[in-house]
Amino acid sequence: MFNFNASRWTRAQAMKINKQDKTTMMPEIGTDFPIMRDDLWLWDTWPLRDINGNVVSFKGWTVIFSLVADRKIAWNNRHSHARIGYFYSKDGKSWIYGGHLLNETANTRTAEWSGGTIMAPGSRNQVETFFTSTLFNESGVAEAVAAVTKGHIYADNKGVWFSGFDQSTDMFQADGLFYANYTENNLWNFRDPHVFINPEDGETYALFEGNVAMVRGQSAVGEEEIGFVPENTAVAEDSCLCSASIGIAHCLSDDRTEWELLPPLVTAFGVNDQTERPHVIFQNGLTYLFTITHNSTFADGLTGSDGLYGFVSENGIFGPYEPLNGSGLVLGGTPSQPTESYAHYMMNNGLVESFINEVIDPKTGKIIAGGTLAPTVQVELQGHETFATEVKAYGYIQADYAWPVRSIPDRRPSIR
Ligand code: FRU
Repeated sequence: MFNFNASRWTRAQAMKINKQDKTTMMPEIGTDFPIMRDDLWLWDTWPLRDINGNVVSFKGWTVIFSLVADRKIAWNNRHSHARIGYFYSKDGKSWIYGGHLLNETANTRTAEWSGGTIMAPGSRNQVETFFTSTLFNESGVAEAVAAVTKGHIYADNKGVWFSGFDQSTDMFQADGLFYANYTENNLWNFRDPHVFINPEDGETYALFEGNVAMVRGQSAVGEEEIGFVPENTAVAEDSCLCSASIGIAHCLSDDRTEWELLPPLVTAFGVNDQTERPHVIFQNGLTYLFTITHNSTFADGLTGSDGLYGFVSENGIFGPYEPLNGSGLVLGGTPSQPTESYAHYMMNNGLVESFINEVIDPKTGKIIAGGTLAPTVQVELQGHETFATEVKAYGYIQADYAWPVRSIPDRRPSIR
């Protein structure tokens, strides 16, 4: 049933990244940004949506989910303390904190990492959160498993609350065959499930971040990974330590708990080590695959912006994919604030939300941790190109429609 080859993001394509291009640039964030909560760090964020990627409101409230940790914890230590918190808003920009989504015991491991939250198709108020159940030990991440937890949403005119989310089910984990596991690569990445229905075949899939299955550092980067570069272009030997992939799994059960891993859609061996939070938009017959990465995770000899990258396919979800804008860069930091924002997420309506990561104080050179939402940016998708056109409010999320609606949207979204 599945017959496709991974598309390669090559070094030659990544060499085209232009950090000066204003059409792929965030607005500059100064040191005076507003903070949503002075008791919480918040970072990776996603909206309550339907399984086709449309943002929904529930009884007049827009709802978002963020990784949160106590602000008393050092910014760089937050990952091992991450829990999923939720916020709700009437206007999509003034957010009220509702607390943790999962009961303390729902996650069978120690931290709750990124994922996504959908209204269960056809349900009145059933909610499913796909997340990364992560186990930390003394040396770092020991396990990372895609998991699902379920509950119900309720709201009145004072706010939103949830029931359930008191247990979780593992969905899939790195197999060492398509995706590197801990034994092959103890710095392996495997996380951030994004569940959606593919309009072409009506099947349910999950995208996620992985690494190419191989023993770290044992394979050389080849010509196919390098691409068409000028002759005598040096490729540092240790670029083989970078092996990110965008993975895909196929759902085997109606309750979205049973899955099979498929080979990756995109690989970045020799190019970059992390392709995080992958997600997809179907528009005008094209399939747009988005992911986030850092400058620091590019292989030696390459540089990029911290931010959103993307790939486009003319043949549906299985590709082949080409990098958007030739290089892959869709929305990154500014030359003077290169790490200002991260964990970008593009919605079907072209709005891209992200969180404020680290802003450099131009007076002192000191780094100021953000831990709050960044200005949302409108990005137009035009064939194989993208254009940042408009800056919205900090943390602005726009619901596409109200749930529940009388006629629940068809499983197949109309291609816009
Ligand atoms: C991106 C990310 C995700 C991960 C989370 C952990 O910012 O690294 O890939 O789920 O943050 O905090």
